[in-house]
Amino acid sequence: MAAARRPARRARPAPVPYIMIIWKSEYETGVAEVDHDHQRLVEGLNKLEELLQTGRGSESVAAVLGFLERYANEHFSREETCMHRLKCPNAAANVAAHAQFRQTFAKAKEKLENPGSSALVARRVHGDLVEWITSHILKIDMALKTCGQR
Ligand SMILES: [Fe+2]
Repeated sequence: MAAARRPARRARPAPVPYIMIIWKSEYETGVAEVDHDHQRLVEGLNKLEELLQTGRGSESVAAVLGFLERYANEHFSREETCMHRLKCPNAAANVAAHAQFRQTFAKAKEKLENPGSSALVARRVHGDLVEWITSHILKIDMALKTCGQR
């Protein structure tokens, strides 16, 4: 008699861990108002991470997303003015990247506010926002370090 075969188990998707951003001196552009804004945005993303993971706390995901959207727009405006004033070579690339972020954020917000979205989707979306902000600071905003000292 042939041994009964177990149905093959479907491989589970690899877990996507939430990412908390640890602020590092590497993220500092040397322009105080920009660095302050970036730290507040990082705090907001970390708050969002905490809420998505635990679902606890007095603040809701929608409230934190609302803060992030508002604050990112205020910050972008301050930072774009600053780069323009300092004649920073990255000024135009920065404006374009900010426009791209607004689109990324709108999609993320839609997914995170949708009660039908899975935890995996939430983790991925949060990870995309974390990746965006850290690489944006390091690759584009960091030009302020040089043009801010001229
Ligand atoms: Fe920027």
